[in-house]
Amino acid sequence: MVSESDQFNLLYSLSFTLFLFSHFILCYTFLHYFTKNKLVMTKVTVVGSGNWGSVAAKLIASNTLLLTNFNDEVKMWVFEETLPGGEKLTEVINQTNENVKYLPGIKLGKNVIADPNLENAVKDADMLVFVSPHQFMEGICKLLVGKIKAGAEGLSLIKGMEVKKEGPCMISTLISNQLGINCSVLMGANIANEIAMEKFSEATVGYSQHKEVADKWVQLFTTPYFIVTAVNDVEGVELCGTLKNIVAIAAGFVDGLEMGNNTKAAIMRLGLKEMMAFSKLLFPSVKDSTFFESCGVADLITTCMGGRNRKVAEAYARNGGKRSFEELEEELLKGQKLQVPK
Ligand SMILES: NC(=O)c1ccc[n+]([C@@H]2O[C@H](COP(=O)([O-])OP(=O)(O)OC[C@H]3O[C@@H](n4cnc5c(N)ncnc54)[C@H](O)[C@@H]3O)[C@@H](O)[C@H]2O)c1
Repeated sequence: MVSESDQFNLLYSLSFTLFLFSHFILCYTFLHYFTKNKLVMTKVTVVGSGNWGSVAAKLIASNTLLLTNFNDEVKMWVFEETLPGGEKLTEVINQTNENVKYLPGIKLGKNVIADPNLENAVKDADMLVFVSPHQFMEGICKLLVGKIKAGAEGLSLIKGMEVKKEGPCMISTLISNQLGINCSVLMGANIANEIAMEKFSEATVGYSQHKEVADKWVQLFTTPYFIVTAVNDVEGVELCGTLKNIVAIAAGFVDGLEMGNNTKAAIMRLGLKEMMAFSKLLFPSVKDSTFFESCGVADLITTCMGGRNRKVAEAYARNGGKRSFEELEEELLKGQKLQVPK
């Protein structure tokens, strides 16, 4: 016969043991989860902090907070500038969480950390997003040789190419060759200010070999208002993003000369055909289907309607060619750069 007090003691020890056991399991699970994720957490750095660079950082930073396989903090390398009030741009970004020069009025996310030191910004990164105007990339790559983590992956958001004596060189190739890393691209109908305001748009990731890497880039950039798909055609995607800027200059001339919508549509149609022909001449592997992704026809349309090349070309035509592109770029783009060969 078990007495009442023995029963109580038995129940008490049993519940105490259960209590200890459940806490042990909780602690173990937490530690296991924390350690595992800390070891595999991917660190991201954005190299560039202009208009698109800042929006890219905002998109990424909203996702790294949600995705357990990414480190929350997103580093953003800033080409340091002194603002008219004498403050450093980097300090203002870190204090206000806003790129007051290139993306005023938009909060980037508290987990975006601006860093003016290029080497420091990239040293721990597993995924590097390159988003500087194309004319600065060769110089940036030279500074980065030997400073990148082994096995890091690159993604170029840069629309443009280097034209060398030996022929044209895609920016992703320049990055790959100089830094010894794999480099995918992300292009699309992506006027940065609209994405900053979370207006819906699409984009295309172009990759050459590793689908799983492309999927990780898609995961890092996709939000409900920014839908990204991947295609196995890195050259095709990058050439779309580059060549549409030339067609946009012609579209700007059409606007400046007030030639009308039919002429502009003709310029866009002919431009698309030439983009396809030229791309295939450079890289026979380029796929027709790529031109019907966001990076192709959609980017061509948006750039010919609202891009910066169109804007400056229109002003050039309205001024009868009497004011130079450089002068108009300075006046109309306020620090942003035209997408033209330099
Ligand atoms: N802005 C867009 O809507 C948009 C959209 C898609 C793709 N892109 C592409 O993104 C790339 C970057 O464009 P953006 O709009 O972010 O830049 P931007 O034109 O807004 O800004 C220029 C940037 O260049 C930096 N800079 C100036 N001098 C420099 C130097 N000597 N060395 C290094 N950096 C210097 C400035 O600090 C600034 O960050 C371009 O290739 C562009 O085609 C832009």
